Amino acid sequence: MKIAFTSCMSFTVFAQQPVWDQIAAQRPDRLLLLGDSVYIDAPPYPIGMTHPKDMAPVEFLQHVLARWRTQLDQPQFRALVSAVATDAIWDDHDFLWDESHGEGAISKIINRENIRISRALFNAFRRALDERLAPGSFPSAYNDASINQTHEPPPGYRHRALSPGLQLHLTDGRSWRIGRELLGANQRAQIEAKLAAAPDAVHLIASGSVVQADDDARWAQFDDYTWLLGLARKYKILVLSGDIHANRFKSINLGDGRWLHDATASGAAVCKLVGTGSKCQNYGLLTTDPAALRLDFFSHGTPDSVGSWAIDRNTWQTTSVA
Ligand SMILES: [Fe+2]
Repeated sequence: MKIAFTSCMSFTVFAQQPVWDQIAAQRPDRLLLLGDSVYIDAPPYPIGMTHPKDMAPVEFLQHVLARWRTQLDQPQFRALVSAVATDAIWDDHDFLWDESHGEGAISKIINRENIRISRALFNAFRRALDERLAPGSFPSAYNDASINQTHEPPPGYRHRALSPGLQLHLTDGRSWRIGRELLGANQRAQIEAKLAAAPDAVHLIASGSVVQADDDARWAQFDDYTWLLGLARKYKILVLSGDIHANRFKSINLGDGRWLHDATASGAAVCKLVGTGSKCQNYGLLTTDPAALRLDFFSHGTPDSVGSWAIDRNTWQTTSVA
């Protein structure tokens, strides 16, 4: 099985988006979008606005709907996700805006309606992906009933058994990210139950945030980090992450022959610093066979300096692949 994975694209920053044609040429079986599929807070804003946090809910709804609509109408993206089974998780830029966790935005009453709106649009995006963008699968008007329900659930955790030996966990890393909590107790319990039900399988944990990094959006600054390392001492876990606008592969040695791997592919169609810096065309490719998982990373359609790696399914150790 071939799984392409990437994150971070913005039509307003990078309209051409050749990365989707590059991914299509690999003929993947699945695509994973690891967050920041739209940038709610990337300019341009409606006239008179300086930031989406200043918008009234109806303006915010129209603004966020337009962001999703333009991404779904981006021709190369549309062709790929119409043809390939695609799963998406969200990150801060599709949830509210950059640094929204640091300012405690999730807990402020003033943001409650805008969070309902961003949930509604992201849930609509997931439904459209599930339907391979069938006509009418995504709302075109801001007053469409499907995105105006009083109680809009958070996207939440999703699990897919890709095969008995390969399990995919799609986390919701934004709905319960409060203080030192990243996933919240309920979501952690859901994941633990699925891991325990397939103790010998390889578990792919899709996460917007990387496990370790220098910036603020990493597992290592949350209490959930200790929980994740504990699970990796028991189960074979490969985190697939986004966020950092670069590709990266990092393995954490937990001792006693145990490892936690984190494969990051980020910067599908955005600039290095969102709106400025060099334009990124990054993605990763996970290829599985009965003996090993192979990871390849690409930038601008060519192999990235991150290199190619194999993870032995039995020992869970990595080797560099020429
Ligand atoms: Fe991003």
